Amino acid sequence: MKVLLIGSGGREHALAAALIQDPSLTELHVAPGNPGIEAIALCHVIDIDDNLAVLHLAKELEIELVVIGPEKPLVNGLADLLRGAGIACFGPSAAAAQLEGSKDFAKKVMSDAGVPTAKSFTCNTRDEIEAALDTFGAPYVVKHDGLAAGKGVVVTDDRNFAIEHALQSSQVVIEEFLDGPEVSLFGISDGRHVIPMQPAQDFKRAYDGELGPNTGGMGAYSPLPWAPSDLIEQTLAQVLNPTIQEMAARGTPFVGLLYAGLAITNKGTKVIEFNARFGDPESQVLLPRLKTPLAQLLFRAATGALIEGEELEWSDESAVTVVLASAGYPTAPVLGEPILGVDPIEGSFVYQAGTNRRDGILRSAGGRVLAVTGMGSDLTEARNRAYRTISAITLRGSHYRSDIALNAAVAEQGN
Ligand code: AMP
Ligand code: GLY
Repeated sequence: MKVLLIGSGGREHALAAALIQDPSLTELHVAPGNPGIEAIALCHVIDIDDNLAVLHLAKELEIELVVIGPEKPLVNGLADLLRGAGIACFGPSAAAAQLEGSKDFAKKVMSDAGVPTAKSFTCNTRDEIEAALDTFGAPYVVKHDGLAAGKGVVVTDDRNFAIEHALQSSQVVIEEFLDGPEVSLFGISDGRHVIPMQPAQDFKRAYDGELGPNTGGMGAYSPLPWAPSDLIEQTLAQVLNPTIQEMAARGTPFVGLLYAGLAITNKGTKVIEFNARFGDPESQVLLPRLKTPLAQLLFRAATGALIEGEELEWSDESAVTVVLASAGYPTAPVLGEPILGVDPIEGSFVYQAGTNRRDGILRSAGGRVLAVTGMGSDLTEARNRAYRTISAITLRGSHYRSDIALNAAVAEQGN
């Protein structure tokens, strides 16, 4: 099978690394890719926000399956165009991608499907905003309605700051604060059936101890030894299945990866957000653990051929990913710095995220530069491998968190 993967981040590097393990794959093409992906696939530098350019490339290469990594091309309708041209595509239509593209839309779908989530108000005026904030009280949760590349959500005790953030968008969702550990759980769907993956936990804050600003994700681990044993089953029954059925009933079936961001509260598991694509950096811990051949799985999802109740096959190993971020990330990342010492020890991988190569030298080209994954028989061993590899890398001014999966590893040792 000839596959074209769209994207250029750490998630796509992990997707590419998993796709090439599948014996049914004959050629892997990536647009635009990055220097890390270039080492394992054929990269094509095109503008992935130009749907026609992607369609043209897919036709020229006689691609049998397109896998779309990032959200923007999905919201832009790339999957619609490709499917319309008869090319199988793993990724939802523009209409279905609104589950990520509009917080208000996601809330309406959850309400109609009976999916547990935070109570919320959608607000368009200052009066509505203030009334909603005062209904829930602090901590205030304010979300811009549209895609905001991770910058749309503010959680704060400062009422004035909450109002100010809300007024920056013409429509916001203000919701009740959900207290409890966060879990990311993904479902792979063909529009009618949905197969759950294993859960992962993402670390969104920039600095150790959950301090600093929100980021795209500074690290992740999987599996979660502390999670309730019925988490997957419950999420499938209460979140993934009802959402997929609701989207189908609306005439806009969701084909692709449904990302459920969950909070495990003392009143049960509730949805914090949906995304319409693989998570980053969750993919960098999930995909190295997945044994089911990925290209075939995504092709079956893209062509409506998943089987009710089928299960994925997983390695028993644990995985921990630590993200190396540029100086100044997330506020004002410094780019163009040379990266030295990328030399993964056994049992670890370095996925490139924001990199390029200039004058033969690998350089930083984004806020999140590398995602280093360690594998091991438990989280402690996986952490040790990830941290040994990342600590040998030199990138001026860069930073990474030292506490990824730490609490879970300590708790696991205690059991
Ligand atoms: P989102 O983009 O919706 O995932 O929000 C980014 C982050 O803000 C989440 O990962 C949570 O840490 C936090 N957040 C969002 N909604 C809530 C909520 N209702 N209660 C508590 N934290 C939230
Ligand atoms: N890790 C968060 C995201 O992919 O949106």
